[in-house]
Amino acid sequence: MRSNGCGELRTKHINSNVQLCGWVDRCRDHGGVIFIDLRDWSGTVQITVDPDQGDKLFAVAENLRNETVLQIKGKVRSRPKEAINEKLNTGKIEVLANELNVLNQVKGNLPFTVSIHDEEPVREELRLRHRYLDLRRERMNQNLRLRHLTIKTARHFLENEGFIEIETPVLTRSTPEGARDYLVPSRVCGGEWFALPQSPQLFKQLLMVGGIERYYQVARCFRDEDLRSDRQPEFTQLDLEMSFMSQEEILNLNEKLIAAIWKEVKGINLSLPFPRLTWHESMARYGTDRPDTRYGMELIEVNEIVREIGFKVFSGAVAAGGSVKCITVKNGNNSLSNVRIKPGGDVFSEAQKAGAGGLAFIKVRQEGAIDTIGAIKDNISAEQKQALLKKTGAEEGDLILFGAGKTEIVNKALDRVRQFIANELKLINQEKNKQYPNFLWVIDFPMFEFNTEEKRLEALHHPFCAPHQKDLGQKHEWKEKLPKARAQAYDLVLNGLEIGGGSLRIHDPELQNQVLKTIGLPENEAKKQFGFLMEALTMGAPPHGGLAFGLDRIVMLLAGEESIRDTIAFPKTQQARCLMTEAPGAAKDNQLKELHVASTWIDPE
Ligand code: AMO
Repeated sequence: MRSNGCGELRTKHINSNVQLCGWVDRCRDHGGVIFIDLRDWSGTVQITVDPDQGDKLFAVAENLRNETVLQIKGKVRSRPKEAINEKLNTGKIEVLANELNVLNQVKGNLPFTVSIHDEEPVREELRLRHRYLDLRRERMNQNLRLRHLTIKTARHFLENEGFIEIETPVLTRSTPEGARDYLVPSRVCGGEWFALPQSPQLFKQLLMVGGIERYYQVARCFRDEDLRSDRQPEFTQLDLEMSFMSQEEILNLNEKLIAAIWKEVKGINLSLPFPRLTWHESMARYGTDRPDTRYGMELIEVNEIVREIGFKVFSGAVAAGGSVKCITVKNGNNSLSNVRIKPGGDVFSEAQKAGAGGLAFIKVRQEGAIDTIGAIKDNISAEQKQALLKKTGAEEGDLILFGAGKTEIVNKALDRVRQFIANELKLINQEKNKQYPNFLWVIDFPMFEFNTEEKRLEALHHPFCAPHQKDLGQKHEWKEKLPKARAQAYDLVLNGLEIGGGSLRIHDPELQNQVLKTIGLPENEAKKQFGFLMEALTMGAPPHGGLAFGLDRIVMLLAGEESIRDTIAFPKTQQARCLMTEAPGAAKDNQLKELHVASTWIDPE
């Protein structure tokens, strides 16, 4: 049907007869001559329809609507000098049409314009409802190509390193990654359910027991969790697992993989190795395990300075075993007004959203004088003030913001405030950041964290991460030492976003058992859920470890998008719906009956 792609044509094609297919991007009638911009996957080219070519041809051109599907036959010619468009790859030529065949009409109104010339933002709801049309637009078209190039580069790299791609089941058992499962009722095994995998975690470990040694998969994962711009219920991991490799070797290999992607997709040479931060240091200095280290404003703990202070919010927090921490905003006195940092203000409410009761502040004035709320001013001694200024490094014009209370909440609140202020004050040099993306490994996560609601320890990553041998001691010490052990686990963070994570795994069945006991899983329950894994571990499991990258997030960052929805061909909304197919939808009664399922749902209306 066609000889060339629209976007391929150049001056070297002048005088060639070509046959093109595509969509009408737009039509312009220039007093007797009609210009059609014809667009396909490869780009756009100008088609010129001259009345000299016959009335019939001209009549077709006159009635073309945007997005009509068209085949044209014609001859490539150079454009007159004044009509050259340097912005377009095909801008030096045009095609003089001698035949136009409408392959399909557009009926009814288009919900939005697709044209490459149209930069008007379109409501996301509309884009998602008519995603096929949205995909025709340049932005999504580019993003999907970039996604493909990313996957292609990863495949190429991994295959050169001896990895093979293996598919793991989608209908499976629950794979605990901390989210709710999507369940599928079994018709054949009445009353029983499959879970869709939250990740291929257990299968990839079993592949290692199966002697595969180097596995990868572009794996679809399903998690029923609260959605955000960087989370989808159905997302894709670039999932890896390897045997006989130390943590150091795994990190090195994965850095090289990331570097290969950035080189191929962005033409950027990343400098390796990536910096590393232990989880403890990350929490202490940034209040989060995925810190954005493109700017300072680090958290500083001032417990010792305020332990005896008359201001009870501070001294009380320390006495209760919590923390008082602060961040220093350089020149914050000018850039952040009192209204913003006091109750009701936007900075204040960021702290509140993270669960903080308040956000105390000190503004540093001339010669170390301070401006603050009365309760602090009246209760702070000259020494305490001096010590605070010294520890925070705050100078005239700077603003110090404090969080006080449970360490966990203080960290959360100051992390949130820190990010908010960095955005507001534009502390991130976007241009520099494009050339030097800010990668960081966070390592040495704790094995467990305390779930205050359920009053038990739970695995911070998942219960298959191997602890650091030196935190574990001898077998008889495991029970006592395990709860406080660090895991040989690592996350890769880019510009404050977690783009991947993994660990070395437990390959000793007894240790695996002990970990499951530590998270409060009774032995019979552990056997029921993970018996197959435990059994496999008894049959010669090699030392192994791996990692999974969030592919959608990586593509989002490569494409400079703010939502992973813009990197996925058919994503779901924040309500986990597909607006195009209107999934999820109701099931028919007879389907439910066959599946042995009855609904308890009561429509609130
Ligand atoms: P984890 O749960 O950290 O690890 O997931 C790995 C990476 O997947 C991405 N990710 C998501 N992306 C989009 N939407 C979501 N809902 C979502 N959830 C996670 C993140 C994350 O870093 N089995 C382990 C990996 C391992 O140990 O090898 C796992 O799944 O970028």
